[in-house]
Amino acid sequence: MKKKVIAVNRLEQEVLEILQQEVDITFFTGITSIENQAFITALKEAEGIVGLALQVNDALLDLAPNLKIVSNVSVGYNNLDVDALTKRNIMATNTPGVLDETVADTIFGLLIATARRLPELDHYVKSRQWKGDLTMDYYGTDVHHKKIGIIGMGRIGEAIANRAHHGFHMEVLYHNRSRNLDAEHTFNATYKELDALLKESDYVVLMTPLTPETEGMIGAREFSLMKESAIFINGSRGKTIVETELITALENKEIAAAGLDVFEKEPIDDDNPLLKMSNVVTLPHIGSSTYATELAMSQLACDNLLAGLRGEKPPNLINETVWEDK
Ligand code: DGY
Repeated sequence: MKKKVIAVNRLEQEVLEILQQEVDITFFTGITSIENQAFITALKEAEGIVGLALQVNDALLDLAPNLKIVSNVSVGYNNLDVDALTKRNIMATNTPGVLDETVADTIFGLLIATARRLPELDHYVKSRQWKGDLTMDYYGTDVHHKKIGIIGMGRIGEAIANRAHHGFHMEVLYHNRSRNLDAEHTFNATYKELDALLKESDYVVLMTPLTPETEGMIGAREFSLMKESAIFINGSRGKTIVETELITALENKEIAAAGLDVFEKEPIDDDNPLLKMSNVVTLPHIGSSTYATELAMSQLACDNLLAGLRGEKPPNLINETVWEDK
C-alpha cells in the first residue's frame, strides 16, 4: 500500500504529479493553522508532510502520530519547531543551495530599486506626471563603488557579495557568526563587528536566518548607529528586526530608505505605516520565486521526502540526531 503524505500550501504541480506515482498524496492549499477538519483527519494517517508555510509545533504533531518526515520547501525553517520534531524522532528537511542565485538577484534588485527609487519613478511615468526635465527631487543614490555591509555571509550572502564586488565594484563588509575566509578571498570582503558594520556601510543588507539568537537583532539602537544616508535591506525574515523601530527610524530620518522582502506579519496589515512611505520599497516575500527555482525547491523537497519515507537519509536533513539515533 502507498504511504500517505500531505502536501500543503507550497508545491509545484509538476512535482506533485511525480510524487503521486509513489505515495498516496492529499493536497491542501490556504492552510494557515490546524483548524481545517479535513486537514486534521489527514494528519492522523500521514507519514510525511511536504510544502508547508505553516507552523509545525507540538499542537500539530499531537495530531500526527504516524509522521516520519516533514519536508519544508524553503531554506529558512523558522516555521519548524525542530526540538519538538527531534523529540518525536521525526526528520525535518529544507531546500538549501538551489535558490541562492535567485534570492541574490531579488535582493540586489531590491537594493537598486530602493537606491534609485525605481517603483516611485515607474509610478511617476505611468501616472503621466512626467511632463518635462526631472528636478533633483527625483534623483537617487549611487550603488556602484559604495560600501555594502552584509549581515549573514552564508551561501546567499556570498551570492550578493559576488554581485556587489564583481558587478558593482562595491567594498564588501560582512558580519557573521564565524569568519568566512572564502568570501574574504573571493570578494575582498572585510569582517566587521556588527556595530562597526552598521556605522560604516552605505547599504546594510540583513540575510541571517531567524533563530532565537537573531530575533529582533536590528532595532532602535542598531538603526541609530547607521548613517543618515544608509539604505537598509531586509531579505531574511520580518522578525529579525523590530519593525516598529524601523518605522520610527525612517520617520525620524535616522536612515534614508528601506527595501523589504519580509515583514513581521505576512501578508502585511492594511494600516502598516510602511505602506505609506515613499522611501520604502516592499515586496511580498518573493526572494526565491521564479518558476525555475520554485520547481527546483519542490523537486529537492520531494527527494528529501521520498528518501526519508524509504528509510534512507534525506540529502538535506536538519536534525541529524534523529538519524544518528536510528
Ligand atoms: C526561503 O526559502 O527561506 C526563502 O525565504 C524563500 O522563500
